[in-house]
Order: sequence, then C-alpha cells, then structure tokens
Amino acid sequence: MTDGAPPGRWSAYDRMAQHVAPAGERLLDLVDGGRSEAATLLDVGSGSGLGLRAAADRGWVAIGLDRSEDQVAAAGSVVRQVRGDALALPFERASFDAAVSNFALIFAGDVEHAVTEVSQVVRPNGWFAFSAWRPGGWPGAWRRRMATALGREPTPFPTGLGEAEVARALLVGAGFVDVVVHPERLRWEFADVDVAVDTLTSAAGGLRMLRSIAVDAGAWPTVRELLLDDADRRAVPLAGGGIAIDDEFLAVAGRRPDSRSGMG
Ligand SMILES: C[S@@+](CC[C@H](N)C(=O)[O-])C[C@H]1O[C@@H](n2cnc3c(N)ncnc32)[C@H](O)[C@@H]1O
Repeated sequence: MTDGAPPGRWSAYDRMAQHVAPAGERLLDLVDGGRSEAATLLDVGSGSGLGLRAAADRGWVAIGLDRSEDQVAAAGSVVRQVRGDALALPFERASFDAAVSNFALIFAGDVEHAVTEVSQVVRPNGWFAFSAWRPGGWPGAWRRRMATALGREPTPFPTGLGEAEVARALLVGAGFVDVVVHPERLRWEFADVDVAVDTLTSAAGGLRMLRSIAVDAGAWPTVRELLLDDADRRAVPLAGGGIAIDDEFLAVAGRRPDSRSGMG
C-alpha cells in the first residue's frame, strides 16, 4: 500500500458510510446556497462515494478525491473520483464552486495544510464545509476502551476539530470568511447491539485495526464483551424494533472571500 494509510485501514468503510451519510447531506445544505447550474463540487476524502451520489442528486457536478486505493475502488465508476492526497490537491486554482469533506479532513494529518489546499481550489465566494466528531462521542470512547484493554497507548483521535473554536480558527486561519459552526446530532441505528459492535469494529478504520490486534492476541471475546456492555448503556430502543445510539458532530462552513475586495 502506498497511500500512507496502514493496509486495509479503510477497506470495509463503505459499511459505515450509510450511517454518516446524513452528516454529508448537512454539509451539502451548507454549501448549496446560490449554486448555479452545473456548479462543480470537490468532495475531499470521498470514501466509498455516497456523498458524491448525494451531491449529484442535488445537481452538482461532483468530483471526489481519496488517498485510499480501496475506497476509490469501492466507489466504482458510477461516481467520478480520483486517488490523491488532501495535502497536495491535483487541481487548478479556483477550479471548484464549492468543496465538502465529511469526516475526512479530520484524518488528513496536517489539517492546516489540507485546508489551505482546499482554499486554493475553491473559487472566490465559493463555500467549503466539513464535519468533525465532537470529543467524547462513542466511537472515540470505544477507541480508548479497546486500546486500554489491549494494554496499548490510545492513539490520538482527531477530535481537536470537534471543538467549535478550534474548527472556526482553522477556517479563519486559511482565509475563509462568514465562518459558521453548527453543533449537530447524528443518530446511528442498528438491528441490535451485536450489529452495532460488529459494524463499528469491522468498518471504522481505527476500531477495525484494534479489533484485528485483539483477535491476534486472543483477546477479542473479552474486548467485545466490554463494547457490548458500553453499547447496551448507550442504546435507546426504537419503537419499530432495533436500537439507536446518538452522537454529536460539528458541521463547519466558510466562504472564500470575494477576489475583488479580498474581504468577502
Ligand atoms: C471516515 S472516511 C469518510 C468517507 C466519506 N467522506 C464518507 O462520508 O463516507 C475518511 C476518508 O478520508 C480519506 N482520507 C483520510 N486522509 C486523507 C488524505 N490526506 N487525503 C485524501 N483522503 C484522505 C480516507 O481514505 C477515507 O476514505
């Protein structure tokens, strides 16, 4: 694997994508205003392409970029997606009317650099919106629990951007104006807690890696019990059957300044 991500880190992510799709729709709401016909949109870290399909349904000419070979392959040819790194966007200056990044920018590493790259490819007056998990959300809590149970140092979860002021400062620092930060809720629905544990630990990148370490160490049954117990405490039964687990994220958006004023 040459994309800088550990092998297979995102390969099963498409199982998760449907759960985070409502957050992607929220980002599209934020960049939709004033969209002209055939406007172009870049989805940074577009994963298995669900966000690209949602954007196309709204009339955007949408192009995705993802550094994971597995994800670009999973998206298939129904959507237009290129393999590349958010830290070196292979596009002309001001070539997009808008950009979004649904729970992807937060994993890009040098996020200041990534946002500067985005700011260069979005045209003046164009919008960029990204989502970030709030600190203390349950996938992050599971990551810490699993690492601790395995006697490992919990790897840092990129929640810094889940703090409103950090998220705002990131966009302001890259020259965006009219920056808005919306606290949002995301409801995860599963058939039961077993499915919740299985989905997250076989699909979400970091949890999936911890699961495979637990399996190799013969500790998976114990770790799984811990997670089932946690899921049980968080789960709300749904009237029609199944369970829901509520989580929080930030939807953050900013506009490129007008090129004439430089001020927006
Ligand atoms: C949590 S997934 C989100 C995928 C998609 N946006 C969605 O809503 O389903 C994060 C994605 O970001 C991609 N990614 C992370 N860092 C990246 C980078 N530096 N450049 C390009 N893609 C990146 C990963 O390969 C992965 O597909």
